[in-house]
Amino acid sequence: MNRASLEKRPDEVAAMFDDVAPKYDVVNDVLSLGQTRRWRRIVVDAVGAVPGQRVLDLAAGTGTSSEPYADAGIDVVACDFSLGMLKVGKRRRPDIDFVAGDATNLPFEDNSFDASTISFGLRNVNEPKKALAEMLRVTKPGGRLVIAEFSSPVVPVWRTMYTEYLMRALPPIARKVASNPDAYVYLAESIRAWPNQDGLAAWIAETGWEDVAYRNLTGGIVAVHRAVKPGGHPAK
Ligand SMILES: C[S@@+](CC[C@H](N)C(=O)[O-])C[C@H]1O[C@@H](n2cnc3c(N)ncnc32)[C@H](O)[C@@H]1O
Repeated sequence: MNRASLEKRPDEVAAMFDDVAPKYDVVNDVLSLGQTRRWRRIVVDAVGAVPGQRVLDLAAGTGTSSEPYADAGIDVVACDFSLGMLKVGKRRRPDIDFVAGDATNLPFEDNSFDASTISFGLRNVNEPKKALAEMLRVTKPGGRLVIAEFSSPVVPVWRTMYTEYLMRALPPIARKVASNPDAYVYLAESIRAWPNQDGLAAWIAETGWEDVAYRNLTGGIVAVHRAVKPGGHPAK
Protein backbone atom coordinates (compact mmCIF):
# COMPACT_ATOMS: atom_id res chain seq x y z
CA MET A 1 0.00 0.00 0.00
CA ASN A 2 1.53 3.31 -1.03
CA ARG A 3 -1.31 5.76 -0.87
CA ALA A 4 -4.92 6.06 0.20
CA SER A 5 -7.67 6.39 -2.38
CA LEU A 6 -10.26 9.16 -2.31
CA GLU A 7 -12.52 6.70 -0.49
CA LYS A 8 -10.22 7.51 2.48
CA ARG A 9 -10.45 4.13 4.15
CA PRO A 10 -9.17 4.77 7.69
CA ASP A 11 -6.73 1.82 7.60
CA GLU A 12 -5.26 3.06 4.30
CA VAL A 13 -5.01 6.68 5.49
CA ALA A 14 -3.30 5.65 8.74
CA ALA A 15 -0.88 3.35 6.89
CA MET A 16 -0.06 6.08 4.37
CA PHE A 17 0.80 8.52 7.16
CA ASP A 18 2.81 5.83 8.99
CA ASP A 19 4.82 5.62 5.77
CA VAL A 20 5.46 9.35 5.30
CA ALA A 21 6.10 10.04 9.01
CA PRO A 22 9.94 10.02 9.03
CA LYS A 23 10.25 12.82 6.44
CA TYR A 24 6.82 14.42 6.87
CA ASP A 25 7.91 17.81 8.24
CA VAL A 26 10.84 18.35 5.86
CA VAL A 27 8.72 17.48 2.82
CA ASN A 28 5.95 19.77 4.05
CA ASP A 29 8.31 22.72 4.20
CA VAL A 30 9.67 22.02 0.71
CA LEU A 31 6.30 21.46 -1.00
CA SER A 32 4.64 24.47 0.63
CA LEU A 33 7.62 26.63 -0.36
CA GLY A 34 8.07 27.53 3.31
CA GLN A 35 4.49 28.83 3.72
CA THR A 36 3.42 26.33 6.42
CA ARG A 37 5.23 28.27 9.17
CA ARG A 38 3.21 31.43 8.46
CA TRP A 39 -0.05 29.48 8.17
CA ARG A 40 0.62 27.80 11.51
CA ARG A 41 1.23 31.13 13.29
CA ILE A 42 -2.14 32.41 12.06
CA VAL A 43 -3.91 29.28 13.31
CA VAL A 44 -2.36 29.64 16.77
CA ASP A 45 -3.46 33.30 16.92
CA ALA A 46 -7.01 32.31 15.91
CA VAL A 47 -7.16 29.68 18.66
CA GLY A 48 -6.07 32.43 21.08
CA ALA A 49 -5.46 30.06 23.99
CA VAL A 50 -3.77 31.22 27.18
CA PRO A 51 -1.82 29.27 29.81
CA GLY A 52 -4.19 27.31 32.02
CA GLN A 53 -6.40 26.37 29.09
CA ARG A 54 -6.59 22.93 27.49
CA VAL A 55 -6.43 22.62 23.69
CA LEU A 56 -7.15 19.59 21.53
CA ASP A 57 -4.95 19.48 18.41
CA LEU A 58 -6.69 16.80 16.37
CA ALA A 59 -4.95 14.89 13.57
CA ALA A 60 -1.79 16.35 15.09
CA GLY A 61 0.53 13.94 13.27
CA THR A 62 4.10 14.50 14.40
CA GLY A 63 2.93 17.32 16.67
CA THR A 64 4.32 20.20 14.61
CA SER A 65 0.94 21.94 14.83
CA SER A 66 0.86 21.29 18.63
CA GLU A 67 4.31 22.65 19.46
CA PRO A 68 3.48 26.39 19.64
CA TYR A 69 0.85 25.70 22.33
CA ALA A 70 3.24 23.62 24.42
CA ASP A 71 5.92 26.29 23.98
CA ALA A 72 3.47 28.91 25.30
CA GLY A 73 2.69 26.85 28.42
CA ILE A 74 -0.74 25.74 27.18
CA ASP A 75 -1.92 22.23 27.99
CA VAL A 76 -2.16 20.73 24.50
CA VAL A 77 -3.30 17.19 23.65
CA ALA A 78 -1.97 15.97 20.29
CA CYS A 79 -4.33 13.27 19.01
CA ASP A 80 -3.90 11.20 15.83
CA PHE A 81 -4.63 7.67 14.62
CA SER A 82 -1.30 7.09 12.82
CA LEU A 83 1.00 5.43 15.33
CA GLY A 84 3.92 6.12 12.98
CA MET A 85 3.28 9.88 13.09
CA LEU A 86 2.77 9.81 16.88
CA LYS A 87 6.04 7.90 17.36
CA VAL A 88 8.05 10.51 15.43
CA GLY A 89 6.32 13.27 17.42
CA LYS A 90 6.89 11.66 20.82
CA ARG A 91 10.57 11.12 20.04
CA ARG A 92 10.98 14.78 19.10
CA ARG A 93 8.76 16.32 21.81
CA PRO A 94 8.50 13.94 24.79
CA ASP A 95 6.93 16.78 26.82
CA ILE A 96 3.77 16.85 24.64
CA ASP A 97 0.81 14.60 25.51
CA PHE A 98 0.35 12.43 22.37
CA VAL A 99 -2.84 10.35 22.37
CA ALA A 100 -3.84 7.69 19.83
CA GLY A 101 -7.44 8.25 18.76
CA ASP A 102 -9.82 8.38 15.82
CA ALA A 103 -11.30 11.79 14.98
CA THR A 104 -14.70 10.18 14.45
CA ASN A 105 -14.76 8.58 17.90
CA LEU A 106 -12.64 10.69 20.22
CA PRO A 107 -11.35 9.15 23.45
CA PHE A 108 -12.20 12.27 25.49
CA GLU A 109 -15.01 13.34 27.79
CA ASP A 110 -17.72 15.82 26.84
CA ASN A 111 -16.86 19.52 27.38
CA SER A 112 -13.24 18.81 28.28
CA PHE A 113 -11.32 21.30 26.06
CA ASP A 114 -11.32 25.11 25.89
CA ALA A 115 -10.62 24.91 22.15
CA SER A 116 -10.34 22.27 19.45
CA THR A 117 -8.22 22.71 16.35
CA ILE A 118 -7.28 20.59 13.35
CA SER A 119 -4.61 21.54 10.81
CA PHE A 120 -4.47 19.85 7.42
CA GLY A 121 -6.24 16.85 8.92
CA LEU A 122 -9.99 17.16 8.35
CA ARG A 123 -9.63 16.55 4.58
CA ASN A 124 -8.12 13.14 5.35
CA VAL A 125 -10.85 12.02 7.73
CA ASN A 126 -13.22 9.46 6.27
CA GLU A 127 -16.31 11.10 7.78
CA PRO A 128 -15.41 14.78 8.30
CA LYS A 129 -18.84 15.80 9.62
CA LYS A 130 -18.57 13.13 12.29
CA ALA A 131 -15.20 14.60 13.30
CA LEU A 132 -16.77 18.10 13.48
CA ALA A 133 -19.50 16.68 15.72
CA GLU A 134 -16.94 14.95 17.93
CA MET A 135 -14.95 18.18 18.29
CA LEU A 136 -18.20 19.92 19.26
CA ARG A 137 -18.89 17.27 21.90
CA VAL A 138 -15.47 17.51 23.57
CA THR A 139 -15.25 21.34 23.47
CA LYS A 140 -16.66 23.37 26.37
CA PRO A 141 -19.70 25.60 25.71
CA GLY A 142 -18.37 28.91 24.40
CA GLY A 143 -15.14 27.18 23.32
CA ARG A 144 -13.53 27.68 19.93
CA LEU A 145 -13.01 25.58 16.84
CA VAL A 146 -10.22 26.46 14.41
CA ILE A 147 -9.64 24.50 11.21
CA ALA A 148 -6.77 25.02 8.76
CA GLU A 149 -7.24 23.21 5.48
CA PHE A 150 -6.32 23.52 1.83
CA SER A 151 -9.08 25.31 -0.03
CA SER A 152 -9.89 27.04 -3.32
CA PRO A 153 -7.82 30.00 -4.56
CA VAL A 154 -10.22 32.87 -5.10
CA VAL A 155 -8.64 34.58 -8.12
CA PRO A 156 -9.16 32.45 -11.29
CA VAL A 157 -5.63 32.93 -12.70
CA TRP A 158 -4.09 32.03 -9.34
CA ARG A 159 -6.39 28.99 -9.17
CA THR A 160 -5.15 27.82 -12.58
CA MET A 161 -1.49 28.27 -11.63
CA TYR A 162 -2.03 26.45 -8.34
CA THR A 163 -3.83 23.53 -10.02
CA GLU A 164 -0.92 23.23 -12.46
CA TYR A 165 1.48 23.19 -9.49
CA LEU A 166 -0.55 20.50 -7.72
CA MET A 167 -1.01 18.22 -10.70
CA ARG A 168 2.24 18.76 -12.64
CA ALA A 169 5.03 20.20 -10.49
CA LEU A 170 4.30 18.68 -7.09
CA PRO A 171 4.53 14.95 -8.02
CA PRO A 172 8.07 15.20 -9.53
CA ILE A 173 9.30 17.30 -6.58
CA ALA A 174 7.75 14.76 -4.19
CA ARG A 175 9.54 11.96 -6.07
CA LYS A 176 12.86 13.65 -5.27
CA VAL A 177 12.28 14.50 -1.60
CA ALA A 178 9.58 12.23 -0.13
CA SER A 179 9.88 8.71 1.30
CA ASN A 180 6.50 7.85 -0.24
CA PRO A 181 5.96 10.04 -3.34
CA ASP A 182 2.62 8.35 -4.11
CA ALA A 183 1.20 9.89 -0.95
CA TYR A 184 1.63 13.27 -2.60
CA VAL A 185 -0.48 12.21 -5.56
CA TYR A 186 -3.19 11.53 -2.96
CA LEU A 187 -2.48 14.99 -1.49
CA ALA A 188 -3.12 16.69 -4.84
CA GLU A 189 -6.24 14.62 -5.58
CA SER A 190 -7.74 15.08 -2.13
CA ILE A 191 -7.23 18.86 -2.25
CA ARG A 192 -9.08 19.04 -5.57
CA ALA A 193 -11.97 16.94 -4.24
CA TRP A 194 -12.36 18.99 -1.03
CA PRO A 195 -15.21 21.55 -0.63
CA ASN A 196 -14.43 25.23 -1.06
CA GLN A 197 -14.51 27.82 1.75
CA ASP A 198 -18.31 28.24 1.81
CA GLY A 199 -18.89 24.50 1.48
CA LEU A 200 -16.79 23.76 4.56
CA ALA A 201 -18.40 26.67 6.46
CA ALA A 202 -21.82 25.10 5.74
CA TRP A 203 -20.70 21.71 7.08
CA ILE A 204 -19.42 23.34 10.27
CA ALA A 205 -22.71 25.18 10.83
CA GLU A 206 -24.77 22.04 10.02
CA THR A 207 -22.89 20.19 12.75
CA GLY A 208 -24.09 22.67 15.38
CA TRP A 209 -21.24 25.19 15.66
CA GLU A 210 -22.15 28.87 15.53
CA ASP A 211 -20.51 32.18 14.49
CA VAL A 212 -18.78 30.38 11.62
CA ALA A 213 -16.30 32.56 9.71
CA TYR A 214 -13.20 32.01 7.62
CA ARG A 215 -10.10 33.80 6.43
CA ASN A 216 -8.19 33.03 3.23
CA LEU A 217 -4.42 32.63 3.35
CA THR A 218 -2.11 32.81 0.34
CA GLY A 219 -5.00 33.78 -1.90
CA GLY A 220 -7.22 30.95 -0.71
CA ILE A 221 -4.74 28.07 -1.09
CA VAL A 222 -5.46 27.62 2.60
CA ALA A 223 -8.51 28.75 4.56
CA VAL A 224 -8.73 29.08 8.33
CA HIS A 225 -12.29 28.50 9.56
CA ARG A 226 -13.40 29.56 13.02
CA ALA A 227 -16.55 28.82 15.01
CA VAL A 228 -17.82 28.76 18.57
CA LYS A 229 -19.68 26.09 20.52
CA PRO A 230 -23.10 27.43 21.55
CA GLY A 231 -24.03 27.84 25.18
CA GLY A 232 -21.11 29.81 26.57
CA HIS A 233 -21.66 32.70 28.93
CA PRO A 234 -20.25 35.84 27.38
CA ALA A 235 -17.75 37.63 29.64
CA LYS A 236 -19.21 40.67 31.40
C1 LIG B 1 -1.32 16.14 6.86
S1 LIG B 1 -1.23 15.45 8.47
C2 LIG B 1 -1.37 16.88 9.49
C3 LIG B 1 -0.56 16.79 10.75
C4 LIG B 1 -0.47 18.09 11.59
N1 LIG B 1 -1.75 18.55 12.04
C5 LIG B 1 0.22 19.20 10.84
O1 LIG B 1 -0.35 20.28 10.70
O2 LIG B 1 1.37 18.98 10.41
C6 LIG B 1 -2.83 14.72 8.61
C7 LIG B 1 -2.98 13.79 9.82
O3 LIG B 1 -4.36 13.41 9.91
C8 LIG B 1 -4.39 12.15 10.54
N2 LIG B 1 -5.71 11.57 10.41
C9 LIG B 1 -6.42 11.32 9.27
N3 LIG B 1 -7.60 10.77 9.56
C10 LIG B 1 -7.68 10.68 10.92
C11 LIG B 1 -8.65 10.20 11.83
N4 LIG B 1 -9.81 9.69 11.41
N5 LIG B 1 -8.38 10.27 13.16
C12 LIG B 1 -7.22 10.78 13.61
N6 LIG B 1 -6.23 11.25 12.80
C13 LIG B 1 -6.47 11.19 11.47
C14 LIG B 1 -3.28 11.40 9.82
O4 LIG B 1 -2.86 10.26 10.52
C15 LIG B 1 -2.20 12.49 9.72
O5 LIG B 1 -1.27 12.41 10.76
